[in-house]
Amino acid sequence: METLAVGIVGAGWMGHVHARAYQRLAQHWPDLAVRPEVVAVADSSAAAAETFARAHGATTPVRSFPDWRDLLADPDVAAVSVTAPNFLHRELGVAVAEAGKHLWIEKPVGLTAADAGAVRDAVHANGVVACVGFNYRHVPAVARARAIVASGQIGVPTHARVQLLTDYAAHPGSPLSWRYAVETGGHGALGDLASHGVDLLRFVLGDVVGVVARTAVHIPQRPIADTAGHYAVLDVTEPGLAFGEVENEDYVVAILRMANGTLGVCEADRAAVGEQNSYGLEVHGTRGLVRWDFRRPGELQVSAGDHYSGQPTSTVFSEPGDGEYAAFQPGAGIAMGYDDTKVVEARNFVRAISGEPVELATLDDAVASAAVLDAMVASHDTGGWVDL
Ligand SMILES: NC(=O)c1ccc[n+]([C@@H]2O[C@H](COP(=O)([O-])OP(=O)(O)OC[C@H]3O[C@@H](n4cnc5c(N)ncnc54)[C@H](O)[C@@H]3O)[C@@H](O)[C@H]2O)c1
Repeated sequence: METLAVGIVGAGWMGHVHARAYQRLAQHWPDLAVRPEVVAVADSSAAAAETFARAHGATTPVRSFPDWRDLLADPDVAAVSVTAPNFLHRELGVAVAEAGKHLWIEKPVGLTAADAGAVRDAVHANGVVACVGFNYRHVPAVARARAIVASGQIGVPTHARVQLLTDYAAHPGSPLSWRYAVETGGHGALGDLASHGVDLLRFVLGDVVGVVARTAVHIPQRPIADTAGHYAVLDVTEPGLAFGEVENEDYVVAILRMANGTLGVCEADRAAVGEQNSYGLEVHGTRGLVRWDFRRPGELQVSAGDHYSGQPTSTVFSEPGDGEYAAFQPGAGIAMGYDDTKVVEARNFVRAISGEPVELATLDDAVASAAVLDAMVASHDTGGWVDL
């Protein structure tokens, strides 16, 4: 078995998730031709890099670099995960491709569709393999929903809804991290949440051709603090705490027109009190519906048949044959988790590097999703439909 030496840039939440995913690959697919090994990490925070090296260096020592350029200069490193904040995606993604290394990059791939396009162009120019962190595609129930829609079981799709409501930014003491500034985060709830929603709609129903949208900021000022991570909270009664302006949206609601004629609604909120990662997708058709809830990931609500009115909806459980479920569990109805979606993503990445045929979430998908997000902002500004 060949070893693929991997470096991780950005040792926050996603950096750890990618590292765990690489490490678990051979446990789920023991016959893989290529086995990834995390050998290096780069993070501007020495503490984050040190924690990462301790967490993931038990069997192979992890070399640690404060500057990601030194990681890219390491000739051993053949593939790189970009799990740093959004404002670094463009520079990093282009540099990884130009260094001739394969690239697994987190969504939304930069601040705008132009940023995602620059990374895509560098990947194509340098002939490296690249995939994007649209991991909800890899939930077996989502794969089954896609197959159900494609098979015509629910008839002709008429309309769809995707929602991503959560509360990591709902607390007024949630600090003004890189996510809330245009220069470092780009879009707000759009890039963080709606990017996944648009990708799910595209994955199940195809391209988006037009949008109309409104965005809103629920908490216009947040306390200033040097923190990373989604979930930090500061004591806003602390004397002397300084506050700064939130520059991007907490909330977006949009109507989308799909190329196949389906209408869609996308709603995303990062500051929704009472909602914790309440994500979901539903597709309605002329003969039925299919509905998925992220927090019940192994279940799908399906209504199909020829009753029309009064047609029942039943719960079906993921089972071997749905996406990559069989690599995790032997029988139906045994729950899989968030990290498992990243294990599947890592597997697709590594298979593509080995030259095996596999459907990846590509940089073309990242550009398409980002173009829809940019169009949502343009629609908010103009008040009208924006065609893509
Ligand atoms: N696919 C998903 O479901 C998902 C979920 C969460 C985050 N993400 C994406 O992953 C990326 C990281 O998000 P996160 O939640 O892990 O963020 P985070 O804030 O937890 O971690 C980011 C890390 O990057 C480091 N960093 C900052 N500047 C750096 C630099 N110049 N060089 C190297 N490291 C640097 C920070 O010190 C921090 O350790 C974002 O682009 C985000 O959109 C994707």
